[in-house]
Amino acid sequence: MSKIILVASGKGGAGKSTVSALLGQAFALKGHPTLVIELDSGLRSLDVALGVTENIVFDLGDIVRGSCDIRDAVIPCPFCEGLSLIAAAAKPAEISLDTLEKISSELAEDFKYIILDCPAGIGETLENAAKCAGLGIVVATPDPSSIRGARSTGALLASCGTPNRRLVIERCPQKAKNLAPIKNLDEIIDGAELQLLGVIWEDPMTRSAMDSGKALAFESPNYQTFRDLSERIRGKYIPLGFK
Ligand SMILES: Nc1ncnc2c1ncn2[C@@H]1O[C@H](COP(=O)(O)OP(=O)(O)OP(=O)(O)O)[C@@H](O)[C@H]1O
Ligand SMILES: [Mg+2]
Repeated sequence: MSKIILVASGKGGAGKSTVSALLGQAFALKGHPTLVIELDSGLRSLDVALGVTENIVFDLGDIVRGSCDIRDAVIPCPFCEGLSLIAAAAKPAEISLDTLEKISSELAEDFKYIILDCPAGIGETLENAAKCAGLGIVVATPDPSSIRGARSTGALLASCGTPNRRLVIERCPQKAKNLAPIKNLDEIIDGAELQLLGVIWEDPMTRSAMDSGKALAFESPNYQTFRDLSERIRGKYIPLGFK
């Protein structure tokens, strides 16, 4: 049975797709086959990040309409063995719980992890993802509206029954003085009312990996960060270790 992990945020642009893509790569590199499903209908981006835009024949919309077999919409990532994508539906549509359950049961033997990259905000698709996920990762950047959005999202996940909910702080400046107006990371954790799973640094190499459809450079400060994040999810004790 695959473990289902959803990635959500209150505010758009917080870094959900980045976390989904790079966490997926970290799992796959460790030998755990992982499927990322982009639920953001009408607003695709992960096909670019995973370098599969030219390879899309069927997407999540085709699965919803029943116009392809589920497996036909699974696209392997060309630069990361063990990682695959189901691309977002081309047109806006809510994704039902029934669709998510059908996909996860059909692919239960193929993938150790299924990562659901959710649309921004709070809506039906997020609620359905929350009902089937075992872990909800809420992404927030260090800005007050993103933190407030993370708190509402965490509360929604709790009300939908997602058993484990954690915070990932994205695009964190590498110098603490650049956090302003936030004073420190505790302020983000307290504001989001979620336990911290990891901190991703603001980093041009991370942005470039997402924009170019290539693997994250080994030299990026986030390379090890995502490996640590994946190991923490697998239950290993990895100290948070930021200064
Ligand atoms: N750690 C980072 N360092 C630098 N840039 C980043 C980082 N994380 C994300 N970005 C950039 O920020 C932008 C938004 O990230 P991303 O697309 O992952 O957000 P999102 O939450 O999925 O957005 P949406 O709500 O539109 O789906 C992208 O251009 C991405 O490359
Ligand atoms: Mg996105």
